Amino acid sequence: MKTFFVTGGAGFIGSAFVRLLLEEYDDCRIVNYDALTYAGNPDNLAGLNPDRHRFVCADITDPEAVLANLDENTDVIVNFAAESHVDRSINSAAEFLQTNIAGTQVLLDAARARGVKRFVQISTDEVMGSLPEDDDKFFTEASPFAPNSPYAASKAAAEHLVRAAHHTFGLDTVVTRCGNNYGPRQFPEKFLPLALANAMKDDSIPIYGDGRNVRDWIYVEDHCRAILAALEKGRAGAVYNIGARNERRNIEVAEALLDALGKPRSLIKFVKDRLGHDRRYAIDPSLAETELGWRPRETWATGLEKTINWYRENGPWIEKVRNLAYRDYYKAQYGTEVTVD
Ligand code: NAD
Ligand code: TYD
Repeated sequence: MKTFFVTGGAGFIGSAFVRLLLEEYDDCRIVNYDALTYAGNPDNLAGLNPDRHRFVCADITDPEAVLANLDENTDVIVNFAAESHVDRSINSAAEFLQTNIAGTQVLLDAARARGVKRFVQISTDEVMGSLPEDDDKFFTEASPFAPNSPYAASKAAAEHLVRAAHHTFGLDTVVTRCGNNYGPRQFPEKFLPLALANAMKDDSIPIYGDGRNVRDWIYVEDHCRAILAALEKGRAGAVYNIGARNERRNIEVAEALLDALGKPRSLIKFVKDRLGHDRRYAIDPSLAETELGWRPRETWATGLEKTINWYRENGPWIEKVRNLAYRDYYKAQYGTEVTVD
């Protein structure tokens, strides 16, 4: 029997990971600990078996609440909980420091206090900064830290704390650094679901700057399988870069979505660039491939098809999410109204 304490499990990637755990382990027990911020969504957890999955609505920055819900026999903590959107971190960094940095330290301390066997930190390629365009350089595990946004800086700080807990206290830790995820249940402040949801409503797709910024895209379940492999087979203290060798310019992503939906490319609208906008992310996943035996299952074509189908079939999920505080956020960020039924 495996006992997992998953933080941020009501968000996009965390909820996909919880589903994967329940599928892969017949006998696992999960405590899903999530504060349900604007990005956390109980609908993401609909239909999960309550005998094996217990949801706790609480904050990772609250040490008493963490300890009260973290059993002595917990095998693994997987820390997804974070403020995760770069644009919001540019608008205001305070909550990023609180959750991403202070919250990670609370979890590390609790892991030691309860004798948790392994701590998995879900990090990001953004801690390594930006790569030059049209270059054959990739991020490796040895790339230096060079975070450029408050979000990336807070995730880099969290990684340093994880490293320190391993080095100083011998806590068994593993860090995964992934690129841009896409797939079902992604909050539509992020580029791909924003573009998809807008195009489905014939709203324009806002593209920052010249649209030539490159991201390395991975289907969310492939990322989750890599985390599972790192959790099971990763070396204590190791970092693994996770990517599907799938670099795309933002403009290409928008065009692929519009073409798949049969919508005109005239929906693309270039808008003011993001401050400090990183040019290119590109991951060398060789270490994860060789040491963990992990490979992505989806191609860009199959992953996009699954994603588009999910958003087509889950209109009420999108409408509900776009109807809440998201409307105010969208108006403030883009200066226009978002269309909702
Ligand atoms: P998300 O914003 O969809 O979900 C974050 C979840 O964390 C939400 O459910 C939210 O309620 C919860 N949360 C936030 N603050 C909390 C707090 N103080 N206490 C408890 N719960 C809290 O994010 P996501 O896209 O699913 O990302 C999950 C993790 O993966 C993050 O750590 C992020 O940095 C990392 N990551 C994301 C991507 C990506 O492309 N989305 C890529 C690489 C790494
Ligand atoms: P995003 O989903 O915010 O992820 P990240 O910045 O963490 O990579 O953005 C992905 C890319 O899309 C990034 O280069 C910024 C760009 N982008 C737009 O062009 N328009 C938008 O409205 C958003 C949200 C992002």
